[in-house]
Amino acid sequence: MNKNVQQTSVNSSRRNWLKSVGLGAGAVALTTSVDSIMGDLRAAGMPTEHFPSATPNVNDGLVRLSSNENAFGPSKKAAKAMQSELLNLARYTDATVEVLAQKIAKQEGVSADQIVITNGSSPILFGYADWITKNGNKLVTSMATYEGVPRGAEFMGADVTYVPLAADMTFDLDAIEAAVTEDTTAVYVCNPNNPTGSVVDAAKLTAFAKRVSKKAQVFIDEAYIEMSDAYPANVQSKLVAEGHNVVICRTFSKIHAMAGQRLGYAIMPSEQAKTMGGMLRMGGVNYLALVAGMASMDDHANLNTMRSRIKTERDKLVNVAKELKQPYAPNPQGNFIYMDTGMPHDKFAEKMKAQGIKVVGRTWPGYDSWSRISVGTPAETDACVKALKAVLA
Ligand SMILES: Cc1ncc(COP(=O)(O)O)c(C=O)c1O
Repeated sequence: MNKNVQQTSVNSSRRNWLKSVGLGAGAVALTTSVDSIMGDLRAAGMPTEHFPSATPNVNDGLVRLSSNENAFGPSKKAAKAMQSELLNLARYTDATVEVLAQKIAKQEGVSADQIVITNGSSPILFGYADWITKNGNKLVTSMATYEGVPRGAEFMGADVTYVPLAADMTFDLDAIEAAVTEDTTAVYVCNPNNPTGSVVDAAKLTAFAKRVSKKAQVFIDEAYIEMSDAYPANVQSKLVAEGHNVVICRTFSKIHAMAGQRLGYAIMPSEQAKTMGGMLRMGGVNYLALVAGMASMDDHANLNTMRSRIKTERDKLVNVAKELKQPYAPNPQGNFIYMDTGMPHDKFAEKMKAQGIKVVGRTWPGYDSWSRISVGTPAETDACVKALKAVLA
């Protein structure tokens, strides 16, 4: 990271503005409320007319518990790091991408040439779907899982096998293994799984991946892994380090609360990283995301606090599901729960919207009366609990 551009080169009116919006040195008081950010901007004499149209989905007055965002917001250290680099945007980011790759490599015990860094992890998921179509065209995964890879692969013409969830609503690794044949290209496992929040036993997943990856590449999406109670024991990066035919996918959108900044990465065999990397990076990665991501990785205290705050909010949703006697996917480990509301998902979403809460507006085949609900800040989750009682009691 180039530190040549220091605060001294920031003119004083800009410095005052940064300070007034909570980004000034020593005054990193970030808020997650769009209205209050806009109020700050207006008070500082900044034009804000482009904001409402740019963020209609955020600025619609609803409590947004629909996309598994992390409402607690990013690390203050990440915000400060971005602030100090605001005027250092003139250069392409290849060298900084390499610095982050080295940092991730050290943390995950892999080598830097096994890492592909992208603007959010979605480009990896869709790029991987494309890779499937060019390498045999057959994917095996579970029902009720995150659609990036499977729907992307289907859209591009791949043959996707969806194996039912196990009775406890976890990924049924035995059934998935039984569905893998010699011509399967890849297996997609989401752990913790979106939307169920379930985690599979770490040792069982390791053994599964070692066996299955001899036939087909095993792609493990660990978007929510840092939120799981047993993190880092659930992490499977070591499989790539040991040379197994496995891909691990991560994002800074979840525990790092940087969904709006876009940063994600994959860990994969180095030859594949070389060929997929150039294509997936699509001309570079956002510099401020890289800067923020590195600072956030170092802010262990924030990540630990985040894990426990998310658990506290998640427990509130689990408890209300129990109290209302609504079935839910057991032991959720992400920042959301998956619940049977007893009514079609769109009707439930409509009723929750009338209560001021936005829940996921889509469904997963076979689970039409189930809905995924994300946790929010304490006030937001409390409002959701109240709304659930009004809608379901
Ligand atoms: C399991 C999973 N993987 C990947 C993503 C993609 O996130 P992003 O593109 O923000 O990294 C999401 C987003 O919700 C997700 O739930």
